[in-house]
Amino acid sequence: MSNIKDVVKEKYGKAALRVTAGEGASCCGPDCCSSVPGAVDPITVNLYDQKETEGLPVEAVLASLGCGNPTALARLNPGEVVLDLGSGGGIDVLLSAKRVGPTGKAYGLDMTDEMLNLARENQRKAGVDNVEFLKGEIEHIPLPDNSVDVIISNCVINLSADKDKVLAEAFRVLKPGGRFAVSDVVVRGEIPAQIRRNVELWVGCLSGALDESDYVARLKGAGFEDVSIEPTRVYKVEDAREFLSGHGFDVDAIAPLVDGRFFSGFIRGQKPVDVAQPA
Ligand SMILES: C[S@@+](CC[C@H](N)C(=O)[O-])C[C@H]1O[C@@H](n2cnc3c(N)ncnc32)[C@H](O)[C@@H]1O
Repeated sequence: MSNIKDVVKEKYGKAALRVTAGEGASCCGPDCCSSVPGAVDPITVNLYDQKETEGLPVEAVLASLGCGNPTALARLNPGEVVLDLGSGGGIDVLLSAKRVGPTGKAYGLDMTDEMLNLARENQRKAGVDNVEFLKGEIEHIPLPDNSVDVIISNCVINLSADKDKVLAEAFRVLKPGGRFAVSDVVVRGEIPAQIRRNVELWVGCLSGALDESDYVARLKGAGFEDVSIEPTRVYKVEDAREFLSGHGFDVDAIAPLVDGRFFSGFIRGQKPVDVAQPA
């Protein structure tokens, strides 16, 4: 299977089916890569506090495959329209829906049928009306120009082979003054290609996390202003020890090349208020 999107769909389709079968979803990190039963995934573990997830369907929480908690860091106001790029089982969409209230709306966008089925079932269990899950690709967002107040996303943009298209689409659908408020895995500094590739495999990012300065430059290139990246969880070689040693690396020797170089970050940007509108 050569197409990245097909690989991603298959991987997350299986993750959704595991949740539907009452198992955990994790397919990133050591849970899927190690042979240690019940190993804790340092990327997805403890992203949400219990109070936040109270009242959400257990399957929405189990299906969480993010690397951050974008709605905890994003400003969301009653009445606003939120779009979650790569919404998976829907946890961040359901949390957004609570925040924007009945006069607002939370959209989830995902390309994987099994995830959409799971998310729609979670919406039904949660009994919320101000939510809609759309089928589609984050590179071709099926919403009109200038229609969204806040774009969130949780560990998805790093999976796209065309990140510039994703950022251009996010900019297009945001209203003037709209906010980009995304969690993603980001890389800091030079890392030898072979090591980078293996850590990315461990993280579960098939086509590559962006370097932080590259991410900032691409956001600015797409038209965003007030761009920033705030690390929320920094990874150490120890987190991936078993995976990396299983792939032939001398983990202690490469530690200085890995420690602190991969992190989950909260990425902010704003579409200018006075952005020129197409004629
Ligand atoms: C790592 S999971 C994250 C799911 C969710 N954001 C969460 O925090 O649990 C990635 C999700 O993004 C979806 N996805 C990946 N690439 C996509 C693309 N190009 N277009 C639409 N959805 C995509 C996958 O189907 C999967 O549901």
